[in-house]
Amino acid sequence: MGFKCKSCIGTWTVFVIVWLELVLAVDVNLLTDLGLDLLPDRTKINISLEEYTSVITTYLKLKDDTFEEVPELKVYRLDNLRQQNTSKHPLKMVFPISASTEQAESATLRIFLPPQDNDSTTIKVRLNQILGPRRRRILQDKELYLSKQSPKWCDIDVTKAYNSWLNGQKNLGLELVCLGCNNNLNPKLAAITALIYNVQKRSKRDLSIDKRTISNCGPRHQKGKKKKCCRHEMNVTFKDLPFIQLGSIVEPQWYEAGFCHGLCPPQYNFATNHSRIQGLLHQIKKNEARAESTKNTIPKTCCAPSKLGDLQIIMVNRNDPTKLDVHTWEKMRVLECACS
Ligand SMILES: *[C@@H]1O[C@H](CO)[C@@H](O)[C@H](O)[C@H]1NC(C)=O
Ligand SMILES: *[C@@H]1O[C@H](CO)[C@@H](O)[C@H](O)[C@H]1NC(C)=O
Ligand SMILES: *[C@@H]1O[C@H](CO)[C@@H](O)[C@H](O)[C@H]1NC(C)=O
Ligand SMILES: *[C@@H]1O[C@H](CO)[C@@H](O)[C@H](O)[C@H]1NC(C)=O
Ligand SMILES: *[C@@H]1O[C@H](CO)[C@@H](O)[C@H](O)[C@H]1NC(C)=O
Repeated sequence: MGFKCKSCIGTWTVFVIVWLELVLAVDVNLLTDLGLDLLPDRTKINISLEEYTSVITTYLKLKDDTFEEVPELKVYRLDNLRQQNTSKHPLKMVFPISASTEQAESATLRIFLPPQDNDSTTIKVRLNQILGPRRRRILQDKELYLSKQSPKWCDIDVTKAYNSWLNGQKNLGLELVCLGCNNNLNPKLAAITALIYNVQKRSKRDLSIDKRTISNCGPRHQKGKKKKCCRHEMNVTFKDLPFIQLGSIVEPQWYEAGFCHGLCPPQYNFATNHSRIQGLLHQIKKNEARAESTKNTIPKTCCAPSKLGDLQIIMVNRNDPTKLDVHTWEKMRVLECACS
């Protein structure tokens, strides 16, 4: 890119500053409102397998299944891991996971690592998926915060590897390597927890969901024509939003929030009696304004959410980093849209 156009750079700078200011303005209020302004000390987070499975079970029960399928929790434990040296012979773990019709929303490796003799308790590790005698796929490089006094739980995302095994990739296991260190990474216990959907069941269910939401977006809208007010899909992935705090959400990683968009012709999908009247008045005033060549002061009704749903969120308790909490964030997703 050349620097032919100095004013362009100026314009871009202003644009970026305005954008940042907008983001920061939202930042403070949104994060405070959602209870994300004070986060637990991430070096102290120590969530046991038992704590995770017990809280996630509660969370799955709370999840509203009228709108989307609720996943199932699967836990694979390795209790008697062979003790291995870390640097020359990295730790290998093979979990009994093989091809199936399921698909994971998320899968996490949970390891209970022993206390460290080494002064450096903050270490960098690499988790590989073993693909062959010499072939590895890097799943993640991650900093782990261990302890000198007692063993500690750590977790690493393994969704990619897990789904590849379900899709038929031969399961040769995972390998944990300490990067530039020689620490003892022989876990006392290792487990993979996964939230899974049955893909076959899901496609059947999708049809019934379409039927239920037909009042918003349905087949009556032909292609090419401008769509009338209805609900559209919008996926929100927390880690894609510009707030690092959202990374502390344990579950879900993403959710389908939806949005309302489309035209509001007279008497179409009115939300309230008021919007019915407003629509009517808009029509009358439009004709009057046209005749008198003046402006119509009564706006059309707008396509907006008419029914909203809550979202359950799991976060680490900010005072006790060995505990997880389920929070309910109200009105986080659109269920239905109407003209109002
Ligand atoms: C590897 O294991 C052997 C025997 O178990 C031990 O003598 C040696 O010190 C270990 N090496 C490291 C780097 O931990
Ligand atoms: C982490 O939690 C486990 C129990 O789940 C406990 O045994 C261990 O001592 C804790 N470790 C630290 C460093 O607090
Ligand atoms: C401690 O770790 C550092 C780097 O992480 C390494 O250079 C050193 O040899 C380790 N010391 C012991 C006693 O393992
Ligand atoms: C949202 O995510 C789901 C699951 O990954 C996917 O099936 C769907 O197509 C996505 N929708 C959009 C609009 O990206
Ligand atoms: C309009 O008012 C009537 C009478 O109160 C009520 O029964 C009806 O539910 C209202 N319609 C809407 C869309 O609010």
